[in-house]
Amino acid sequence: MVITKQHKMRFKTKAVHAGQEPEEITGAVTTPIFQTSTYSNKKLGETKGFDYGRTINPTRTALEKCIAELENGKYGFCFSSGMAAVHTVVALFQKGDHIVCSDNVYGGTYRLYEQIMRNFGLDFTYVDTSDAGLIEKAVKPNTKLIYVETPTNPMLGISDLEAVSKIGKSKNIMTCVDNTFMSPYFQNPLDFGIDIVLHSSTKYINGHCDVIGGCLITSDDSIAERLKFLQNSIGSVPAPFDCFLILRAIKTLPLRMQAHNDNAAAIAESLAKNDKVVKVFYPGLTTHPQHKIAKKQMSGFGGIISIDLGSYEKAKTFCDKLRIFQIAESLGGVESLVCHPPSMTHGSIPKEMREEIGLTDGIIRLSVGIEDIEDLMEDINNALK
Ligand SMILES: Cc1ncc(COP(=O)(O)O)c(C=O)c1O
Repeated sequence: MVITKQHKMRFKTKAVHAGQEPEEITGAVTTPIFQTSTYSNKKLGETKGFDYGRTINPTRTALEKCIAELENGKYGFCFSSGMAAVHTVVALFQKGDHIVCSDNVYGGTYRLYEQIMRNFGLDFTYVDTSDAGLIEKAVKPNTKLIYVETPTNPMLGISDLEAVSKIGKSKNIMTCVDNTFMSPYFQNPLDFGIDIVLHSSTKYINGHCDVIGGCLITSDDSIAERLKFLQNSIGSVPAPFDCFLILRAIKTLPLRMQAHNDNAAAIAESLAKNDKVVKVFYPGLTTHPQHKIAKKQMSGFGGIISIDLGSYEKAKTFCDKLRIFQIAESLGGVESLVCHPPSMTHGSIPKEMREEIGLTDGIIRLSVGIEDIEDLMEDINNALK
């Protein structure tokens, strides 16, 4: 049986089936890896809809349809990394255009904007996008994009998606949200009127720390047409095998996200009571400054917690003493990871700018995995001693 959109699938069903009809020749239930760079034309000018592997690949198409459905969007586009997806979004704009961006974004996004895209004549203003008033103030006559990360990496700040989309629509400015931290399971920015959703699928979407990937989702026909053109023209597309692995991983996305969320919520509550911890950043805590907005637009709070331990020395001692949490870049995998953003993921952001957003040298980011909560708690409590 072919499952069509008319079946109105719920999230867990979509995660298993969306975009993945049984393969036509054999009926293979699992979408095969179409490991080919090109396709034979029956006659000159007669293709079966497939011409060249950069332009189209059936394994990638299945993944693109799947992620589009998970984000309640019409079109999905996959890339070889999250950064390739970010690059494709900014490639929609031209010399002289201005972009308003969250002042706390992934360090690689800031590096791309400041060290590469500025050289191509784009201008950027960074503001705390959790304050919609600051976004409005930053808008100039040549502003073409509002780029928001919510929750932010690593300070877990939340921007009001409805407010961001309202500003964009009233001023005819495109909006893009990096939804990496929530995954489509906990937050769907298109539902709030956002134009483009971005993910580093390296993180929760793949969730097993074995693939680098990115994706973009939109429901806007003209944006989709331009993204398709850029995807093919820039060419940073994922390999068929990586698409296969991500499709496979998505089948358990809802189960993984729930487990990440449950473990992180328990750890955040416990850390908030520990006097060795100066501050806990987790949108699920009622003390989080945007907890109410988080509750309104997210159906869970995710698996990332940041903590302030007060100094680099204390942060280092804590990381070095952990046994289950591995010290590593990245996040969102089933295995628990710990990172020191100022010296790792956000090292390319100038120290003064990091400190302005509270990203001081005592900040540690925990990516809480799906291991037994008792083991994770023990590991953290031992390291804090
Ligand atoms: C929020 C966020 N967006 C984008 C990226 C970039 O993704 P990738 O590392 O897959 O290129 C990252 C990477 O850590 C990230 O955390």
